[in-house]
Amino acid sequence: MVALTMKLSMKLALLELLLMSLSIIPSYGVLQVGFYNGKCNTTNVEKIVSKVVKKHFIRDRFITAALVRMQFHDCFVHGCDASILIDGNQTEKDALSNGSVKGFEVIDEAKATLEKICPGVVSCADIIVIAARVSVFLDGGKWYHVQTGRRDGLISQASDVDLPSPYLSISETIQAFAKKGLSIQDMVLLLGGHSVGMTHCTFIQDRLYNFQHSGKTDQTMNPTLAQFLKRRCPKDKIGQVLIPLNSKTNNVNLIDNSFYKQILVGRGILQIDQEIALDSRTSDFVKELAKNNNTFLAKFGEAMVKMGAIEVLTGEQGEIRRSCNSSLR
Ligand code: HEM
Repeated sequence: MVALTMKLSMKLALLELLLMSLSIIPSYGVLQVGFYNGKCNTTNVEKIVSKVVKKHFIRDRFITAALVRMQFHDCFVHGCDASILIDGNQTEKDALSNGSVKGFEVIDEAKATLEKICPGVVSCADIIVIAARVSVFLDGGKWYHVQTGRRDGLISQASDVDLPSPYLSISETIQAFAKKGLSIQDMVLLLGGHSVGMTHCTFIQDRLYNFQHSGKTDQTMNPTLAQFLKRRCPKDKIGQVLIPLNSKTNNVNLIDNSFYKQILVGRGILQIDQEIALDSRTSDFVKELAKNNNTFLAKFGEAMVKMGAIEVLTGEQGEIRRSCNSSLR
């Protein structure tokens, strides 16, 4: 525990240094690294967001899982435009698959702080991406430079939420990622987000008790894990029980390559996670990532940046909201 606290203090100190170095990173593309430099008076926007994330992370490390997932759920529907944050009748937030998305309070707090310093400048879409990056870094990940300059979207409808479901085949999942401009390797890397966080038992009920209507357990699941999960997720009481998405046994919530090591020995929790270890299109890459944590951490950051660029609004498009949960129009 002492070692873990020391490691966290060192990470927090390093975070300060990395944020200070932001102004010397070159910009490229429509989105830019350091877009807000000099745009919010003399304030370092990323530092403000980091401070808020840090405060929440110290209280609850599971905030990393919440923010990483929020970026995925935002970017896959109408692009990374913060459409997931809008309150109202039948907005994206109301969609079934967004029912357990968390972390909205972190984004709202960062936005409220920034609005006091430089109103109408920083988009909620950028805050999501910056917050996810900070949380990844605090939770064992490598620092990656996020691009900014996104604008907030004007549309948010529950009926538009069409995220890949855990029951899709691997081919269908590959297609869903390809539609967003993401490669098979990006998909494998981003599923590494499942090294942290939890799932409801409902999402593995079929794997445990009636895999593909066979009345049996999924044979690709390690039998010891299946036994353990059946005790945690009894057939008649699936309800709201949560289990870790990463089946490693030491229970430390970290962004690392342990997820890939687990799926290689049949200890994947979600069906799609297990499938990437078994399918010929993905298994070699899974093995490579399982062997080298540094490779995974570096490439995971790159994949998050790539996902962060999906269908973004820039320039005069969209808006900069004053409050992340409501559109100005
Ligand atoms: C085929 C694609 C994916 C499927 C089918 C999928 C499915 C799921 C499911 C079923 C859960 C549990 C939800 C619950 O019980 O409330 C979950 C949680 C999570 N997902 Fe995914 N996911 C996918 C891709 C991703 C990607 C690309 C990321 C991020 C890079 C991601 C990050 C997470 C995280 C961090 C959690 C835990 C959230 C928490 O504990 O708060 N997922 N995912």
